[in-house]
Amino acid sequence: MSSKKNTCIVLGVTGGIAAYKACELLRLLQKQGMDVYVVMTKHACQFVAPLTFETLSGHPVAVDTFERPATWEVEHIALAKRADLFLIVPATANIIGKMANGIADDMLSTTVMATKAPVMIAPAMNTGMWQNPATQQNIRTLEARGVHVVAPATGHLACGDSGAGKLEDVSVIAERALDVLNRKRDLEGLSIMVTAGPTREALDPVRYISNRSSGRMGYAIARAAQRRGAKVTLLTGPVAIEPPQGVQVVPFLTTQDLLEKSLAHVAEQDIIIQSAAPADYRAKEIAPQKMKKRGGADMVIELVENPDVAATLGAGKRADQTFVGFAAETNDVLEHARGKLAKKNLDMIVANDVTAPGAGFDVNTNIVTLITKENMVSLPLLTKDAVAEHILDGIISLRK
Ligand code: CTP
Repeated sequence: MSSKKNTCIVLGVTGGIAAYKACELLRLLQKQGMDVYVVMTKHACQFVAPLTFETLSGHPVAVDTFERPATWEVEHIALAKRADLFLIVPATANIIGKMANGIADDMLSTTVMATKAPVMIAPAMNTGMWQNPATQQNIRTLEARGVHVVAPATGHLACGDSGAGKLEDVSVIAERALDVLNRKRDLEGLSIMVTAGPTREALDPVRYISNRSSGRMGYAIARAAQRRGAKVTLLTGPVAIEPPQGVQVVPFLTTQDLLEKSLAHVAEQDIIIQSAAPADYRAKEIAPQKMKKRGGADMVIELVENPDVAATLGAGKRADQTFVGFAAETNDVLEHARGKLAKKNLDMIVANDVTAPGAGFDVNTNIVTLITKENMVSLPLLTKDAVAEHILDGIISLRK
C-alpha cells in the first residue's frame, strides 16, 4: 500500500452490527497518512458511540443536519467538498436504497449526494437482504454511476445465518480505498471501444440462437476505462445490466450487425477490447412466420457461418492501434487462446476456462490469463472489476 499525505477521507458509518469494524478501518487509513472525518447515521450511534469516532479521528463527528457543531457553516457541503474519497462502511440496505434513488434525508445521505469525490461503499447485512432483488438492483444502479462497491464476503453472520452479507475484511477495504485514491487517469486522451454481451440470431419471428454471455466482463472494462479517463464506446448485445454513465452506447443484435457497427467505429479508436460473444453461425434462412411443430418428425435447421469480427478488424489494424480479444474455452485453454491471438492479429488475448468454478458466465468473478506475443500472466480468482483493471494495465504496458 502506498500512502498519500493529507488526503481527506469522509467515512460514513451506518447502523449495522459491523459498525464497530469502522473504528479499525479508520485506524488503518490513518496509518496510511489519511485524515478521516466521520459522519454517522442516528442508527449507527446505537451501535457505536460518536465519542469513540470523535476520539479516534480527532474531529467532531457529524450526525444530523440540524445539529451544528462548531466549525462548519453549511456542514454537509463543507464535508462533501473536503473529501478526496467518500467511504460508507458498513453500508446498510437502507443507505444503498437511498443513494440509488436520490433520497437525502439525513446528514450522511445529504453529504454523499453533495460530494464530487469518488464514492466507495462496503455493504454488510443479512443474506436475505443482500440477495433481495431491490438491493441487487440498487447496487447495479450505483455501480453504473461509478460508485465502487466492495462486495460483502460470505461467512457466519451476527444474525445467526451463514451466507453472503458479511462486511469484507477492513484491510481489503482499506486497500481498495487506496487503489481508488492512487488511480491515475492514465487513459486520458485515448479512445477505447469495448464490445460486450451475446448476439441473437433469429430463427423465426419469436425464436433465436444466443449464448450465456452476461456482458459483465465487458461492462466492467468499459466502466474502468471510463474512470481512468478514456473516451469509451460500448458496443453491447442484449444484456440485463446498466451501462456505465458517460460512455457512448451502441447496441447490436446479430454478429453481422456487430461487424458493421465495429467497422463504423474502429478507425477512431486507439484500443479495442472485444469481450462480446458473437454467434459463429446463423440460420441460413429466417422463417418469415413462426415455425410449427412437425407432428413427431425431426426438425433440421441449416446454419451458415458468420463473419469473424475480430479477424476482420485485425486484418485492418494500424500500427498505432492495440486490439484485445477474449478466448472462452472449455479445454486446452492456452493452446486455443494462442492460436486465436495469431489468427485474429490481436495484441493480447484474455483466456479463461469457463468450466472453472468462479469463472465464466453469470458470476461476478473470473480467473484469466493475459497472453501477448511475448508474455503470459496468470491472475488468481478476482472480481471482474479487478480483472478489468489488470487488462487495462496490461494494455498500457504494451503501448509503452
Ligand atoms: N469473435 C468474433 N467474431 C466471431 C467469433 C468470435 O469477433 N464470429 C471474437 C470474440 O469477441 C473474442 C474472440 O473472437 O474476442 C474469440 O472468441 P471465441 O468464441 O472464443 O473464438 P472463435 O473464433 O469463435 O473460435 P471457436 O468458437 O472455434 O473456439
